[in-house]
Amino acid sequence: MPDAEAALAQAVIESFDPAWRHDPYPAYGTLRRAGTFLPGPLAGTMLVPGHAECAAILADPVWSHAEESELLHPDSDVELPGSFLWMEPPDHTRLRGLVSRAFTPRTIEATRPLARQVVDGLIDDALAAGELDLIEGLAYPLPLTMICELLGVPVSEHPAVRRMSAGIARGLDPDVLLSPAELAARTAAVEEFREFFGALVTARRADPRDDLISALAQVHAEGDRLTTTELLGTLLILVVAGHETTVNLIGNGVLALLRDPAQLDALRRDPGLALPAVEEILRFDAPAQVTTRTARAEVTVAGRTFAPGEAVICMLGSANRDPRAFDRPDEFLVDRYAGGARVSRHLALGMGLHYCLGAPLVRLEVGEALRGIATRLTGMTLLADPPPYRPNIVVRGMSSLPVRVTGRPG
Ligand code: HEM
Repeated sequence: MPDAEAALAQAVIESFDPAWRHDPYPAYGTLRRAGTFLPGPLAGTMLVPGHAECAAILADPVWSHAEESELLHPDSDVELPGSFLWMEPPDHTRLRGLVSRAFTPRTIEATRPLARQVVDGLIDDALAAGELDLIEGLAYPLPLTMICELLGVPVSEHPAVRRMSAGIARGLDPDVLLSPAELAARTAAVEEFREFFGALVTARRADPRDDLISALAQVHAEGDRLTTTELLGTLLILVVAGHETTVNLIGNGVLALLRDPAQLDALRRDPGLALPAVEEILRFDAPAQVTTRTARAEVTVAGRTFAPGEAVICMLGSANRDPRAFDRPDEFLVDRYAGGARVSRHLALGMGLHYCLGAPLVRLEVGEALRGIATRLTGMTLLADPPPYRPNIVVRGMSSLPVRVTGRPG
């Protein structure tokens, strides 16, 4: 095999092999330099590593997201309940509209005091212990508490939701990458999810509260606008997409700050940089690394014509490091997105029809986490570098991030 071909084959392996989760970015660079569209590990599916091409595909509704399930989970013996993440108009429009009505900027903003209180409480615990696993001690509990609170899941059930969510998140990876035990764990998690949330919906329908499950249960009860499967699918995506990704954004962000003390100092000097820093973390180390699309009709992108039914893997994590879109793409700069600077948009929250519905919640939660870290943790030391990563490809992040901390009591 000629050298260039061998290097490309190796880069495809490193982009998707769990053993390379700690740093797939050099391999992504090799892919971007090798071509605009490349054959990937799934037969008949092209890899798209560049920013302009990923953006063009995500922005064009001719590309459907509905076939992802067949593409990644052909052997699945359990149906993930259908969420609108995997639907197209008109069903997508109807379901996204129903959730958006309950998930307004005002509803989200109203959770800020809770986010602040949770962050402060977790930082108090961290300071009391002096050493912690940041994933367990901060990154997991914050979004879990927030999404459970918004939905109306009782506090005593949060650990159960976390267990189901983790089992399902691992199962979002292509079936070919999952062991029989992981496939079985996904089946069990989805079944537990259906049972648990099915019971909660029934309870809230009988006795509505001021929460999202009650609001959706009400729509469901009103007639044919939301089927039971759609309701469970919506809850599934809110829990899993809204939780596992945010955990990793917090983890990836803290790791980037610890590896670059000048950036952490900049944030400490000006905690107002917390929001631009959230954008930069999304760009620099995207928690959702890939998404797929299938052409519904013949379409040409960057000079290549795709036939109906042809599928692509949009490599969001790679697109966000594309030097054709970003200056110094491999540098982490907390002020890159500050002060209305003209910077290409990152694709970490998607683009177009399926743009992340939880974006305002992500910015609020992770902004509050960074504010707490910047203002209260005056000393932070990374105790393992690189830290261990979970094997997940689609939702990428660490399994633990041990740190030593000192700082100001609350
Ligand atoms: C750091 C955290 C997050 C990241 C990186 C993220 C990423 C994404 C991405 C990339 C998409 C588009 C997928 C595609 O086009 O194929 C998406 C869609 C979505 N996200 Fe998020 N997300 C995050 C947090 C959240 C939260 C907190 C929620 C809600 C509680 C949420 C709910 C959704 C929903 C419902 C969709 C589907 C939208 C649609 O199909 O119209 N996400 N997210």
